[in-house]
Amino acid sequence: MRPCSAGPQGDRIWLFPGADGNSNPDTIVSFEAGKFPVESSKPLQYMIMRICLSILSLLGSIGLLQGQDVFISNPQSRTATDLNGKWKYVIDLYETDGMGGMPVYRNARARDKTDRVEYSLDDAQTLWVPGSWNFQKPELTYFEGAVWYRRTFDVEDLSANKRYFVYVGAANYIATVTLNGEIVGRHEGGFTPFAFEVTDHLKEEGNFLIIGVNNNRRADYIPAKVTDWFNHGGITRDVMLVEVPETFINNYFLSLDKETLKSGARRISGKLELNGSHRPETARIRIPELGVDETIAVDPEGSTAFSIEAENLELWSPGNPKLYEVSLSAGEDRVTDRIGFRTIETRGKQILLNGEPVFLKGICLHDENPIRKDRAHSLDDARLVLGWAQELGCNFIRLAHYPHQENIVRLADEMGILLWEELPLYWGIDWGNPAVLEKAKAQYRELINRDFNRASSIIWSIANETATIPERNAFLSSLADFIRSIDDTRLISAACKKDQEADGHPDSVYTYNDPIMEKLDVISFNEYLGWYGGLPDACREKTFSFGYDKPVIVSEFGGGALQGLHGDKLTRWSEEFQAWLYVESLAMFDKIDGLAGLTPWILVDFMSPLRQLPDVQDGWNRKGLISERGEKKKAFYVLKDYYESK
Ligand code: GCU
Repeated sequence: MRPCSAGPQGDRIWLFPGADGNSNPDTIVSFEAGKFPVESSKPLQYMIMRICLSILSLLGSIGLLQGQDVFISNPQSRTATDLNGKWKYVIDLYETDGMGGMPVYRNARARDKTDRVEYSLDDAQTLWVPGSWNFQKPELTYFEGAVWYRRTFDVEDLSANKRYFVYVGAANYIATVTLNGEIVGRHEGGFTPFAFEVTDHLKEEGNFLIIGVNNNRRADYIPAKVTDWFNHGGITRDVMLVEVPETFINNYFLSLDKETLKSGARRISGKLELNGSHRPETARIRIPELGVDETIAVDPEGSTAFSIEAENLELWSPGNPKLYEVSLSAGEDRVTDRIGFRTIETRGKQILLNGEPVFLKGICLHDENPIRKDRAHSLDDARLVLGWAQELGCNFIRLAHYPHQENIVRLADEMGILLWEELPLYWGIDWGNPAVLEKAKAQYRELINRDFNRASSIIWSIANETATIPERNAFLSSLADFIRSIDDTRLISAACKKDQEADGHPDSVYTYNDPIMEKLDVISFNEYLGWYGGLPDACREKTFSFGYDKPVIVSEFGGGALQGLHGDKLTRWSEEFQAWLYVESLAMFDKIDGLAGLTPWILVDFMSPLRQLPDVQDGWNRKGLISERGEKKKAFYVLKDYYESK
C-alpha cells in the first residue's frame, strides 16, 4: 500500500486514481488525513477499511462523489466572469495531491525557513486555459497524469443575494475543483460541462481557484484505455464564474410538438427546471417574433411543463436555419437563447426532417484544431471546420467520438448543418461494470442537458465498433432506454460492425444482425473494404443486407493519404489511391436500399499515437480529406462531386 500524503490533521484529502496503491483501476480515495488507510496489524480493521474503500470507489465511480450540484445550461447568456487565460500549474507526477504532505489545493506558502512546503504556485510556470497541456510545454507532450492548475481572482460587489458557480466546459478526464482551499466537487468525463457551487467559499479579494486534472486512461473509464485519437489532457474548454439569483432557471427544454405538426398546427412543448429555495409560483416564456408571451405555473418541486401554440412558426432546416429569440424568466432570473424548432423521425427506411425525407450528406470530424495541435475550443475553431464541411457540400456532420465543444453545436444551428453526437463508448469498454453504465448515463445526461435545445443535433449515438457480447448488448439496451426517457425528440443510432469478422471478407453479401439494432432508430455501420483488406475494386462485388426495415447511414469508410504524395492509384498512401477508394466505395454504398446518409472517415487528418509510420503518418491518422495544414486532397473533390450529384 503506497503511503498517502496526509495534510494537517482533520484535512480531507481527495486523491487521484490509484493513489492508495490499489491495483484496482480508478480508486478515488477520500478520507480524513492522518487516518489514511494503511495495512494494519489488525486484519479485521484492515478488512473493514477495504470494504469502506470499495464503497467509496463505487460511489465515486457512479458519480455520487461527483458533486455535479446542478447543471447550468447556456452560461454564455448569464452574468459570468471569464476565467480563461494563463493559469499557474504544478505537475503532480506521483498523484499524491500534495508536495511534502501539504495538498496543492491549499495554495500554501512557506511562512519561514522551517516551514515544510515543497511547492510554490506563486512562482510556478503557466498554461493557457482553455487548452490541452500537451503542446504547450515540451515536457508535457505525452504526459498522462495529474496537473494542478491555479487561477486567482477578485469578485466585484459580492452579493449575499446571489449564488456563484464555477463552470467548466470540459476537462479531460477527472477534475477535482477546489476554491480557497476547499474541495467543492469532482467530475468524471473528458467532454461534458460541469458546475459546482462556490457561494459559501467565495470572498471579495484573493480567491484562488485550483483545479486538479488527471488524464490517466483506465479500463473502467469512458473511453477505456485504447483509442485512435490523442489523449489531450487538461482544462480543454472555457472556465467561468457564473452568478445567478438565489433561485434561478438552471435548465430548460423546448421542442416542437411532432404530433401537432402532423395536424398542421404548431405547438412548442417543454419544461423549465428551477433551482433554489424561494421558488416563484409562475415563470414566463416570450418569443417576441411569434407573439408568444406565456405565464406558466411552477410546481412546488421547481419544475414546470408547458405546451404553447406557435402559429406562423418557421421550421428550422438546413435550407432555412431559422432561430427564434427565446426569453425565459422566473423570479429574479432571466435567460435568453436562440432556438430553432424542427422535428426528426423515421418512416420505414427514410429519415424525415419536418416530415420530409432528407439525405444526410455527411462527414466525420474530431474535436481538434490540427493547426494548433490542440482540442478545438473557440468559435474560430468551429468556423474553420464547419466552413470546410460546407465547402464539401455537407448538410450533416458526425461529431466523433465524444461530445464536441458547444460552439460547434451552436454554430451548426446558425449554419443549418445537422449533427450526430456521441459518447466515447468506443471499442473495449468495461461493459459488465454497473458503475460504467452509471457513468455513461451521467455523461449522456450532461450532453443532453447541454444540447437539448439545439435544432442541429438530430442523432444520439451510443457506441462505436463494439463487440456484440451479452454484457455490451445489455449495457447499450439500458442506455438507449435511458436516453429515450430523457429525450424522445431525437433518433438513436450506433456505429456497428458487419457479421463477417475479417476486413476484406470474401462474402459477396455483408450481413448485419447486431442485436442492438433492435433498439436503434437508424442503423449505422463502419466499413473499410479497400483499405483494411482488399483493394478498392473489391467494392464492386459487394452488397449489404440488414435484418431491419430502418434507415441506414454508413458511419465510416475511407483510407489514408499523405497530402502531396502522388503516384498511380495502386500506390498506398498516395492521394490517387485515396481518391480511387472513394470512387469505388461511394458506388458500392450507393446501391444500398434505404441508404439515408454517409459520414466518411474523416474531414481532417488528426493526431493519434496509434499512427507512427515514419514520413507518412508521424503521429497523425491520415484518412482526412484535408491535411493538418488545411490543404485539400484529391478525394475531397470526389466526395464533393458525389454530394453535388445527390
Ligand atoms: C475505426 C474507428 C476510428 C478510427 C478509424 C481508423 O473505425 O472508429 O476511430 O480512427 O477506424 O482506423 O482510422
